Amino acid sequence: REPPVRDSVPQAGDPQLRLLRRIGVVDPESLDDYRAHGGYAALRRALDIGSAEVIRQLTEARLTGRGGAAFPTGRKWEATAGQPARPHYLVCNADESEPGTFKDRVVMEGDPFAVIEAMTIAGFATGCARGYLYIRGEYPRATRRLRNAIAQARERGLLGRGILGRDGFDFDIELRRGAGAYICGEETAIFNSIEGYRGEPRSKPPFPVERGLFGKPTVVNNVETLINVPLILTGGGAEYARTGTEQSTGTRLFCLSGSVRRPGVYEVAFGTTLRELLDLAGGVRDGRRLRAVLLGGAAGGFVGPDRLDLPLSLEAVREAGTTLGSGVVLVFDDTADLPALLLRIAAFFRDESCGQCVPCRVGTVRQEEALQRLARGRGDGADDLALLREVGQVMRDSSICGLGQTAWNAVESAVEQLGAFAAGGSHE
Ligand code: NAI
Ligand code: SF4
Repeated sequence: REPPVRDSVPQAGDPQLRLLRRIGVVDPESLDDYRAHGGYAALRRALDIGSAEVIRQLTEARLTGRGGAAFPTGRKWEATAGQPARPHYLVCNADESEPGTFKDRVVMEGDPFAVIEAMTIAGFATGCARGYLYIRGEYPRATRRLRNAIAQARERGLLGRGILGRDGFDFDIELRRGAGAYICGEETAIFNSIEGYRGEPRSKPPFPVERGLFGKPTVVNNVETLINVPLILTGGGAEYARTGTEQSTGTRLFCLSGSVRRPGVYEVAFGTTLRELLDLAGGVRDGRRLRAVLLGGAAGGFVGPDRLDLPLSLEAVREAGTTLGSGVVLVFDDTADLPALLLRIAAFFRDESCGQCVPCRVGTVRQEEALQRLARGRGDGADDLALLREVGQVMRDSSICGLGQTAWNAVESAVEQLGAFAAGGSHE
């Protein structure tokens, strides 16, 4: 096992880049150029080794979902492949809407054929007849490039019937655009949206692997998760698992924004520390002091400058009470107005709640109201802090979907760990 040491951290333009290796190098509009850069070797390999072995390689690689929840991908594929009901569907979740997340966009714009190839491999391994690429409506360039990639792949026999001359391997992809609702990135809300209903989440279980799109077994994967698959197949699952840490294998795309000198998407091995990642982006802008970092987005949590040596692995952040979520690393310097920021986050959740279940519909409003009172410094704040904790816990315990379940996360971390309203009611 290679320890994730500073010297092994891949940097922009570094030959160690894996997921980003073709970005800015390959012509994103040319299938021939994609092939010239190694494209479609993994699909050929998948057909050679067969679907069960593809899934075995994924399991050996210990690949986990990169949309935010880090569920084991091999387990998800195996569960879908084993369902007797037909047809099976694949959904690529490209509705990247978490504030501060833009990694999938970079991949889709810069290496769109990789997404199409990876979806085709997923379709083969899990026995899917059809794949849906659900992309957020605010990504016009990525949409254009993916449409072009789908059309070229179809024209060249890489989508459609008898892919790569293999009798019985029929798979095609349909692109669907979201219309701006954050909740439509939730996997079961995507199903409703594709089926033509209101984008409201469904209760889980049953999980999509059993009953998903059109009530059929469905595998849902994020864009970044999928583009790991060709790497695993060409290099082997065991080799893939040599990078990263015991429980977090491979590399991760992080979206650095806010008060950093060089914002952008960075690919590093799991286990890289937050300090090393910030160093790659040039550190805090204008030589200011670090106030906080929002890890994992609005559904994640804040960490203070005392956590700079936190290794960015699933196990270490779990231990620290936060999450890597969708790879957001939003940096705030010492001029940041934390109460104003929390109000913005609370307004976001209140606005984006689909309103289907009471804990979230009412809880997000109550959370915002309590924060407004705290920010205005009314009273001693103790009642509102108690209310925030109670409402937050109820949302976490009883909301139908991840939106309500995580709406208190960032606020909680700012209140409990950064002392956003320390001395009750007064603020910075
Ligand atoms: P989840 O934990 O409910 O599920 C994760 C995945 O594993 C889902 O595909 C689910 O169907 C599957 N799964 C879970 N248990 C299973 C089982 N027993 N059998 C089979 N499959 C199972 O999490 P969820 O709600 O899908 O995602 C929450 C995450 O999404 C949060 O961590 C958040 O960071 C992230 N997120 C990402 C956004 C983005 O723009 N990328 C936007 C908003 C949230
Ligand atoms: Fe809708 Fe919120 Fe309930 Fe999710 S938790 S179903 S977003 S009301």
